[in-house]
Amino acid sequence: MERLKVAVLISGRGSNLQSLIDACATPDFPAEIVLVLSNKADAYGLTRAEQAGIPTRAISHKGFPDRDSFDAAVHDAIIAAGANFVCLAGFMRLLTPGFVGKWHDRMLNIHPSLLPAFKGLHSHERAIEAGCRFTGCTVHFVRAEMDDGPIVVQAAVPIHQDDTPDDLSARVLEAEHRCYPLALRLVAEGRVTIEGMRVLVDGIASPADPTINPLG
Ligand code: GRF
Repeated sequence: MERLKVAVLISGRGSNLQSLIDACATPDFPAEIVLVLSNKADAYGLTRAEQAGIPTRAISHKGFPDRDSFDAAVHDAIIAAGANFVCLAGFMRLLTPGFVGKWHDRMLNIHPSLLPAFKGLHSHERAIEAGCRFTGCTVHFVRAEMDDGPIVVQAAVPIHQDDTPDDLSARVLEAEHRCYPLALRLVAEGRVTIEGMRVLVDGIASPADPTINPLG
């Protein structure tokens, strides 16, 4: 099978990007990263990409009059790199419905909560404040609404009595680094179908297989 050609969009440190870089470096992984694009020129993720020999682009949103023109420039860069799939990995810009529509069912995002709970920022702080016993992470297809779309992979993570948001963030991040490569692999292997908001993996809506629904 031909490998999926992926553009990864970031804004910051890029630890999820690193998990995808590492996964793509394994010989049988069904995807390759052809571009890492950041809206911030100083994002550490760009350094990670350069170290891995992956082409990078920095396109500042500040240089554009509106969201549509910024998104159009991002889209053009992705196409120019030859990518046919997009992974958002800590990309801190809201994308326009026009851009999202162009990548419908061809764009994943990772969010540090068990969606649909705690969309948006500060999800760890809010999960602790709400008294949740568990939170986690979600990899989902992107739809026009923020942190919304069919769920490919989730992992649950316990919240401990004295957790600070930073403690919880570190624990969830470990799960994120397992979930994103897994979700990308499932999609790239063609094992995923989308029915409304539900994702079937190998034709099954809630696979019991822990390698597909990793608890952690
Ligand atoms: C992660 O927690 C991810 O879930 C969220 O933004 C954070 C990015 O972290 N969307 P990193 O840049 O991948 O380290």
